[in-house]
Amino acid sequence: MNEIYAKIAGVGKYLPEKVLDNAYFETIVDTSDEWITKRVGVKERRMSAPDEYTSDLGAKAAEAALKDAGLAAEDVELIILASVSPEMYTPSCSCMVQAKLGAKNAAAFDINAACSGFIFALATASLYIKSGAYKNALVIGADTLTKITDYKDRSTCVLFGDGAGAAVLTASDKKTGVLGTVLGSDGAQGNLLTCCGLKASDEDIERRPFSDNKRTIWMDGQAVFKFAVKTMESATIEVAKKCGVDISELDLVIPHQANKRIIEGARKRLKLEHDKVFCNVEKYGNMSAACVPIALCEAVEQGRIKPGEKLVLVGFGGGLTWGSALIEL
Ligand code: COA
Repeated sequence: MNEIYAKIAGVGKYLPEKVLDNAYFETIVDTSDEWITKRVGVKERRMSAPDEYTSDLGAKAAEAALKDAGLAAEDVELIILASVSPEMYTPSCSCMVQAKLGAKNAAAFDINAACSGFIFALATASLYIKSGAYKNALVIGADTLTKITDYKDRSTCVLFGDGAGAAVLTASDKKTGVLGTVLGSDGAQGNLLTCCGLKASDEDIERRPFSDNKRTIWMDGQAVFKFAVKTMESATIEVAKKCGVDISELDLVIPHQANKRIIEGARKRLKLEHDKVFCNVEKYGNMSAACVPIALCEAVEQGRIKPGEKLVLVGFGGGLTWGSALIEL
């Protein structure tokens, strides 16, 4: 039997209309455009409307990806949605997206690997395609972090925004698409980045002195920073090695967009030219699982990556988790 590959047949994105610029943060916390630009590299981020939730964003990005792939909702056999901010425990966000799309022939489930989520979802969906179980899959990264952000905490609130990105995977007999993935987790370091669910420990409560409900994001910024730079380097090298590709052969690296300095640190360690690393953090900030697929979509739209070229998606995040995927477009 011929080997089956998981081709990227389409990409899509959705960003809410409302823009929060750095001047806005100067009015709500003790910060400045200069500090945010220099330390983080973000100028603007998007905020979902009060009645606009993760599944709404995810469905819009999915519709765009299906249109790009030339597929109808009924063609989709699998939907995997990665998010750290689904609006319900059940139904899952992916099931809500399925209903919104009318993708009645799909099995749908969520994945939570925080900011690495899209890469975990892509890796999972590609294995289903490669196994022959499904021919068409929809992979979505969607988050509404502004709904779980503490706007009294200057060390986190300036970082986050909302958005969704999606990719359609289809079975192909040509060697293309997701050629290799690397996933990793270190639960023992999970305490470095948390957002409480049903339980908030005394430590969680102490860490969030301003937050009313404690269900907001907290992190040890410096520790996460160091972890991020190291893992982005190692996960990129590992996936390239696994696929027998030299780093110098990569046409583009699309990293998770948490902080311009993290991206720059990883770029230098990998000895990549500036134009080989995609960065749009200044426009949107950190949108967790949505960053990588939105960046992928924009890289395709801008012609930064073309059919036949090779790229690596690489991310890190809460859990702690990390992941990379080597793709031939
Ligand atoms: N405006 C002005 N000052 C701020 C500020 C803000 N928005 N946020 C923090 N500061 C202050 C701190 O209070 C501290 O002041 P102090 O020296 O008086 O105590 C000072 O800036 C330096 O803080 P520090 O935490 O050392 O800054 P940093 O350079 O490490 O930048 C982060 C902070 C959060 C931007 C950075 O650590 C980071 O990006 N970490 C990784 C975050 C991340 O990627 N998270 C998501 C993972 S998916």
